[in-house]
Amino acid sequence: MSAASPRITCPVLAGKVTSAAEAATHIHDGDRVGMSGFTGAGYPKAVPAALAERAKDAHDRGEEFGIDLWTGASTAPELDGVLAEAGAVRKRLPFQSDPTLREAINTGETEYVDTHLSHSAQQAWFGFYGQLNVAVIEVAAILPNGLLVPGSSVGNNKSWLQLADKVILEVNDWHPRAYEGFHDIYYGTKLPPERRPIQLTDPLQRIGDPYLRVDPEKVLAVVHTDAPDRNLPFKPADEQSKAMAHHVVDFLRHEINHGRLPKNLLPLQSGIGNVANAVMAELAHSEFEELLAYTEVIQDGMLDLIDTGKLTAVSATSFSLSAERAEAFNARAEEYKGRILLRTQEVSNHPEAIRRLGVISINGMVEADIYGNVNSTHVMGSSIINGIGGSGDFARNAYLNFFVSGSVAKGGAISSIVPFASHVDHTEHDTQILVTEQGLADLRGLSPAARARTIIANCAHPDYADLLQDYFDRAVAQNPRGRHTPHLLGEALSWHGNYQSTGSMRP
Ligand code: COA
Repeated sequence: MSAASPRITCPVLAGKVTSAAEAATHIHDGDRVGMSGFTGAGYPKAVPAALAERAKDAHDRGEEFGIDLWTGASTAPELDGVLAEAGAVRKRLPFQSDPTLREAINTGETEYVDTHLSHSAQQAWFGFYGQLNVAVIEVAAILPNGLLVPGSSVGNNKSWLQLADKVILEVNDWHPRAYEGFHDIYYGTKLPPERRPIQLTDPLQRIGDPYLRVDPEKVLAVVHTDAPDRNLPFKPADEQSKAMAHHVVDFLRHEINHGRLPKNLLPLQSGIGNVANAVMAELAHSEFEELLAYTEVIQDGMLDLIDTGKLTAVSATSFSLSAERAEAFNARAEEYKGRILLRTQEVSNHPEAIRRLGVISINGMVEADIYGNVNSTHVMGSSIINGIGGSGDFARNAYLNFFVSGSVAKGGAISSIVPFASHVDHTEHDTQILVTEQGLADLRGLSPAARARTIIANCAHPDYADLLQDYFDRAVAQNPRGRHTPHLLGEALSWHGNYQSTGSMRP
């Protein structure tokens, strides 16, 4: 893994090629380390494992060893997994989805700062998280002049490279060399009060450079790898996901018919997860043409839309492809050039760009309450699943936002529509359209009471709809002067309590 590579053509940096173990010695206990990676794409493949070994050795000697780990978003077992298993992650931000790390967070071993993805780089620039000591960034190649060709994700790489005192680069031959030209790295971000508008009016518009920059003096080690990205395969769309996807697509038609959307829609954003992927697959069978996407990740479903010619241009910050799809993409990367642009997550998730472009945003949820407050992150109010990711960046600023989920979870023991959300990521003021396999609730322009009636009638599972209606009716009756958003405070979270004590939300 440490031999020289024809991908490393800058003489100064070629002279710094070393092993992952050697590179990891530059990272110390207590360091803040910014790594590349956005979903299972573009994360360093070798240094994290070597760092985990360092941590284990230190722990065996009875010494402390832990880092604060910043990335773009979630990563993969070779990064979050190995470091969490080694007990080496003291604090983590801004997003994760690794089972071992999740366990460490939920048991209180690791601190987790669950941050809007558009906020992470700027808050680091503002100095809110302290000085970044080391950046470990995977790239596809280093050019003779020292510029870096990014790989399958951009995320926060630009900021980590600029902010860190020391830099370790991993050059991964698995990424297609043809990645040169797929990226747009915006270097125009300044701090308030010097900030200027981001002049982006079209998803494929270039506003930056194709390359990442690094100060060669800061680079202490370059590690050569040849290892694949690792994303989990998607579940094939089941009947439930297909039903949700149908509701979304029908609604988009309805909006076109009412003159509220153009025939080719507006730029699409599709969140992580199986349901969001299924919606993209459904669009592939629809009549819509010349679609655009301004999104965070390119999942299989979006690549299918490009292949069928339905989607003409995608701006994102990362790929998030199944292993099979990633290999197929790599073999034909050149053919996609000019239709896909990967940007920093500061720009892909920027409220200004999302609002200007009028993005249609589709994200998964855990549960919603009868008034439309949405929980995207927590089970039973306490245990984190993944994090808010970019869902808040997009939902708050979108032209239209959809939150989708099956109406029940865990074999029907849990209703995803509840009297009161056990955790709120998106408030009733932000959410517009809720979708379950049962139907779709269009909440735009509705008062809380009207929202409740619509959500219960259209989205709740039949096993829970009457119970929700009964809760609402009694809340109205018992709050003669509280009928704007009526609740029964002693009962509002009782469904969650029931689940915890009996294994079912039913009374
Ligand atoms: N209560 C408890 N658990 C629930 C639940 C509920 N109301 N609803 C879903 N779950 C569980 C499911 O049972 C499943 O658990 P399992 O893996 O043990 O079976 C898990 O949550 C995922 O559910 P699934 O139905 O497969 O949904 P998904 O793959 O579409 O993911 C989210 C849904 C909410 C977890 C996912 O969309 C997410 O992490 N969102 C937040 C970040 C985000 O939106 N990012 C996109 C921005 S670009």
